[in-house]
Amino acid sequence: MNPKILIIGASGQIGTELTLKLRQIYGNENVVASDIRNGNYEVMQSGEFEILDATKSERILEIIQKHKIQHVYLMAAMLSALAERHPKKAWELNMTTLFNVLDLAKDRHIERVFWPSSIAVFGPSSPKQNTPQDTIMNPSTVYGISKVAGENWCAYYNKRYGVDVRSIRYPGIISYKTNPGGGTTDYAIEIFHGAIKYKEYQCFLKEDATLPMMYMDDGIDATIKLMQQKPFAEYNSYNVAAISFSPEEITGKIQKYIADFKVIYKPDSRQEIAESWPQSIDDSKARNDWEWNPKFDLDTLVKEMLQGLHYKI
Ligand code: SER
Repeated sequence: MNPKILIIGASGQIGTELTLKLRQIYGNENVVASDIRNGNYEVMQSGEFEILDATKSERILEIIQKHKIQHVYLMAAMLSALAERHPKKAWELNMTTLFNVLDLAKDRHIERVFWPSSIAVFGPSSPKQNTPQDTIMNPSTVYGISKVAGENWCAYYNKRYGVDVRSIRYPGIISYKTNPGGGTTDYAIEIFHGAIKYKEYQCFLKEDATLPMMYMDDGIDATIKLMQQKPFAEYNSYNVAAISFSPEEITGKIQKYIADFKVIYKPDSRQEIAESWPQSIDDSKARNDWEWNPKFDLDTLVKEMLQGLHYKI
């Protein structure tokens, strides 16, 4: 039987596409979308949509009971760069929403939880290349601190209370349907908009700031695939990898289609965040444990993005 699913943060960059894909797989009637603000037209029209402030536990419970929810995807969060401007608010939002959902799962109102982690769990002392699943984690951002703490709390709730919670450490997720907001990897989306609209883009990272990235479809597939597995013996927040590139490299790929595209480099405080993160990720555990395998490389990603943004190639 199909699970009844709730997505919290369904108006965000990943939440929007996750909702639509889950509805396609499990049926519109089985996937309830929620967010603190309205979402895109398709999300709001194709199934149930609830306005939800996920810092309010009673309201989450109300929605869960109303729709007989079994699986929750908690996609609401404040991302890295924005969190540096509002450290306390970011900590409160990212942690309160997680505790609310974990506690509801502990009290058996929810059967299964997806909670996204990030490459931001790693920090300046973590290995930069092929960063392993288990290694030094000393994040230098509030966002990263909230993700490491969150991972530890998920492990705790899993071990102590038998909560079935699952996580992926997302790299930068690249997509065209919904814009991201407040992230360090956002340049890799903005650059396409700049290229198409103005043939110019001012980049807030340095030309050689290599970061792990992934096309949205792969990110969504990974998420759903992980949630479809039988319960695991223990909690893991899985490294997943697809592509690594720098602003210079992706510029070169875009220039194959838009030859006179120009990038001006004006690195700001986000460069420091990028430098603290890995450049590439070892995801062998995800590949072994649940056969994770990405489909999009840099060439296909660039093509999909340009076409998705209605650029004729
Ligand atoms: N894309 C996120 C960010 O840049 C990383 O998890 O904050």
